Amino acid sequence: MNSIKIPSGIKVFNKIADFRQWRRSILMDNKTLGYVPTMGALHQGHLALVSSAKKQCDHVALSIFVNPAQFAPTEDLHTYPRTLQEDLDKLSGLGEGVASAVLVPQVEEMYPAGINLDVSKQKGTFVEVLGLSHQLEGITRPNFFRGVATVVSKFINIVQPEHIYFGQKDIQQCFVIRDMIRDLHFPTQMHICPTVRDSNGLALSSRNAYLIPSQKKYALALSQSLRHMEKLYKAGENNATELVKTGTDIIEKAKKEVEQLNEGWSMRIDYISINSGNGLKELKDNIPREDGCVISMAVFVGTTRLIDNICLDVKELEQ
Ligand code: PAF
Repeated sequence: MNSIKIPSGIKVFNKIADFRQWRRSILMDNKTLGYVPTMGALHQGHLALVSSAKKQCDHVALSIFVNPAQFAPTEDLHTYPRTLQEDLDKLSGLGEGVASAVLVPQVEEMYPAGINLDVSKQKGTFVEVLGLSHQLEGITRPNFFRGVATVVSKFINIVQPEHIYFGQKDIQQCFVIRDMIRDLHFPTQMHICPTVRDSNGLALSSRNAYLIPSQKKYALALSQSLRHMEKLYKAGENNATELVKTGTDIIEKAKKEVEQLNEGWSMRIDYISINSGNGLKELKDNIPREDGCVISMAVFVGTTRLIDNICLDVKELEQ
């Protein structure tokens, strides 16, 4: 932290008590606060959330915290990109007064009882949103949403934002947090902002940094597959299994091409699934158009697991 150059106009806090003191001054000034939780490695998707927040709120705060509780022992906690200086410079590039404050807390302060990645050895308080956490992403990552719900509830308590902003790219996370805010009566309004994509359609993600150029090219199969399923749905295809099959064919075709490249990496579908827009129940037959649906997928491109989704006719994504 000592070698970090803090851009003018942005306050950076390492201690929760210092952040809270600043937050109190915002309240005393009768100003509103919007909040964007992040794990850093900021990209245009995060910056779009900050800009949306600034349109609705007097001040915008972010947290940058690589949250151990949402990583399994086998996952990339230690190699996850940590780029604080670049992150602050990108925030500063939005213009003075857009991002007012950044909270960069220590793991020890966020998890006073300690945090073991092995859930069976954990101590302390955790938050779990039942019914939404164990399908889709929750099959491969059974404790992921428990970690996310826990850290976001801690941050809402600390930041006390009037408004909180998430990206649709992590759609299941949005459902989990929306219900958690409702169930725990947090006095904050949630906003879900559209997925930001590069000019080719690849959904922006901090993990895209792991992709080599040829992987980046074949990663486009995810958004192509989703767009194809969307086109068929809009043309009247209503059978979820049929739609998933056509989406799967597109990824499988890309996988075959990758294998012919002989570069020593491959692609693998983790899941492609269509779930109801009101509770993420998996659909196999008819899609009830009145509820809408979420078509989502996770695909390994080399060793990088990418996710993407589209929401079709989903009405109540906002609280
Ligand atoms: O979406 C993310 O980056 C994380 O899951 C979040 C919401 C910041 C919690 O650690």
